[in-house]
Amino acid sequence: MYSKFAKWYDLHYRSLKDYEKEAERIDYILRKFEPKPQRILDVACGTGEHARVLSTRYGYQVDGIDLEPNLVEIAAAKNPNGEFTVADMRSFSLPRQYDVAMCLFSSIAYTQTEEGLETALKQIAGHLKPGGRLIIESWVDARRWNEGIVDASESYDEETQTKVLQAREGRTEGDLSILNIDYHISTPEGEIEFSEVHKLGLFSRAQLEDSFRRCGFEPNFIPEGVLERSIFIGKLMVG
Ligand SMILES: C[S@@+](CC[C@H](N)C(=O)[O-])C[C@H]1O[C@@H](n2cnc3c(N)ncnc32)[C@H](O)[C@@H]1O
Repeated sequence: MYSKFAKWYDLHYRSLKDYEKEAERIDYILRKFEPKPQRILDVACGTGEHARVLSTRYGYQVDGIDLEPNLVEIAAAKNPNGEFTVADMRSFSLPRQYDVAMCLFSSIAYTQTEEGLETALKQIAGHLKPGGRLIIESWVDARRWNEGIVDASESYDEETQTKVLQAREGRTEGDLSILNIDYHISTPEGEIEFSEVHKLGLFSRAQLEDSFRRCGFEPNFIPEGVLERSIFIGKLMVG
C-alpha cells in the first residue's frame, strides 16, 4: 500500500512525527520491564525509524518485518545490525525469539478483522520468549472514528527541494475505516500524483483486550500521552 510512496515516507513522516521522542518514550517503557529487554522485533516496521533510534541511541538489537518490500529495503539500509524481512504479520516465521515485539503507528489495524488481528497476535506470541511483551499503538477506537475526516499535511525537503502534499478522506465500510489518500509531490524534475486506499479495522478497547487474552497476553491499556495514540502492553502469560 505504501509501495509508490515509500521513497518519500521518511521525508514526509519525519516532519510530522518525532521518532526520536517516540523512541525515548519506548525506551522508558522498556526499562520498566524485568529483565531489561535486549532483542526487539518491530512488526510493520515501515522504514525502520524507530529501530534506528532504538538501536543507535539506546543499544537495543532490533529486527523488523513489513509487508512492503520498498519500505523494508529502506529499513534494512539504515539498520545494518538488524535483520529486516518482507513478511505479513499474520503469517511470518523468523528463526529467533524476542524479549519484546512492538507494532506502532496503528499498523495493527491493517489486519482489518478480528480474525486477522488474532492471527497476527498469535504469530507474534510465537516469536516471544516466555514472559515477553507486546507493545501496540492502536488506531482510532471504533466509537471515536470520525468518518467525515478530511485533512491534509504538507512537508518540504530543502536539500532535494521536494514538497509532499498528502490529502486524506475517510469513510466507513462495516467495521472498516477506509482512507483514500491522494499524494501530490513536487520535485525540481516535475510533479507526481498518485492515490492509495488504506483499509484499517475499527477495534474497540474491549475488543483488543479480549483478543490479547485469547492470544495469550495479559493486556494493560495506557491512554494517549505516552505515544501519539493509546497503547496496549501485553505480557505473554506462561502456560
Ligand atoms: C502507518 S505505517 C507505520 C510504519 C512504521 N511502524 C512507522 O511507525 O513509521 C503502517 C505499516 O504497516 C505495514 N503493514 C500493513 N499491513 C501489514 C501486514 N499485514 N504485515 C506487515 N506489515 C504490514 C505497512 O506496509 C506500513 O509500513
